[in-house]
Amino acid sequence: MRIALGTVQWGLDYGISNINGIPSDKELRLILSKADQNDISVFDTSSIYGNSELRLGDNYSNKRKIVTKVGELNGDSLKTSLLRSLKRLKSSNIYGYLFHKPEILLNNNYLWEDMKMLKLSGMTKKIGYSVYEPNELEILINKKMIPDIVQIPYSLLDRKFESYLNFLKEKKIEIHVRSIFLQGLYFKKISELGEKFKSLRAAFKELDLIKAKYGFSILDLALGFVKMNKAIDRIIIGVETQEQLCSILNSYSSNLPLKVFEDIRKIKIKDIFILNPVNW
Ligand SMILES: NC(=O)c1ccc[n+]([C@@H]2O[C@H](COP(=O)([O-])OP(=O)(O)OC[C@H]3O[C@@H](n4cnc5c(N)ncnc54)[C@H](OP(=O)(O)O)[C@@H]3O)[C@@H](O)[C@H]2O)c1
Repeated sequence: MRIALGTVQWGLDYGISNINGIPSDKELRLILSKADQNDISVFDTSSIYGNSELRLGDNYSNKRKIVTKVGELNGDSLKTSLLRSLKRLKSSNIYGYLFHKPEILLNNNYLWEDMKMLKLSGMTKKIGYSVYEPNELEILINKKMIPDIVQIPYSLLDRKFESYLNFLKEKKIEIHVRSIFLQGLYFKKISELGEKFKSLRAAFKELDLIKAKYGFSILDLALGFVKMNKAIDRIIIGVETQEQLCSILNSYSSNLPLKVFEDIRKIKIKDIFILNPVNW
């Protein structure tokens, strides 16, 4: 199972149209048991996702592979920051430790050596970073900071990292993708896009035509498009409800005909700036 669960939604009020809000403890337990039943083993969290790490710790299971991330260090050492996360996660070690934002590493290159020491210490099995733009990845790789795990945004219309995937695979780097639903934006109707996203109206129109032509939902298209890229190791998805996870699991088991993706790939986006949620 390549689906992984993102957890910002469990610690912060997040998502473009989040009508559900942060899941209750009861709802979170339902989401986690559904995940366990379906071999979803990887969970993406961060020290800057509110009490998301704490909630994962409260529902600790040694079956889970936790990837957490360091945001700002605020004068602390990387080791101190990881020890804090491990305490919240009620774990002695984790599957992956990533820099949440590339800047922290780009401005403090020595932190990569510190990160490698944490791996050698056994506190984390893998190390890496999360990036937003291809040039950040290029700079880090050129600085010989070769990660075990890299997290990138990737989705139907946001394909800016696609040409890097094979290179990352050759280097045996584990690829985690996020924002496959563009933080929920793909679930919006064109009439709900508003002024900010008007540059995406034409593309959403084409997606509507593809949905009608083949009889698939936007969930099927968004998940199917990412799923068919075999270079991707983990597909990180954010959910607030068990129901959302169930519909994702149902869709994940269906296979879309190749011609659907040929049509999707014909959709050209001029304004790629708007595809990065940082710019919203
Ligand atoms: N820099 C980083 O490292 C970074 C940045 C962003 C995210 N992340 C990680 O990625 C995870 C996923 O977040 P994302 O931004 O990538 O979001 P996403 O997975 O693209 O979209 C998640 C949103 O899609 C909607 N959704 C999910 N399942 C649905 C369903 N079955 N039906 C209808 N709507 C559904 C929900 O939004 P609504 O309920 O609002 O519709 C949900 O909040 C986060 O939890 C976090 O772990 C990491």
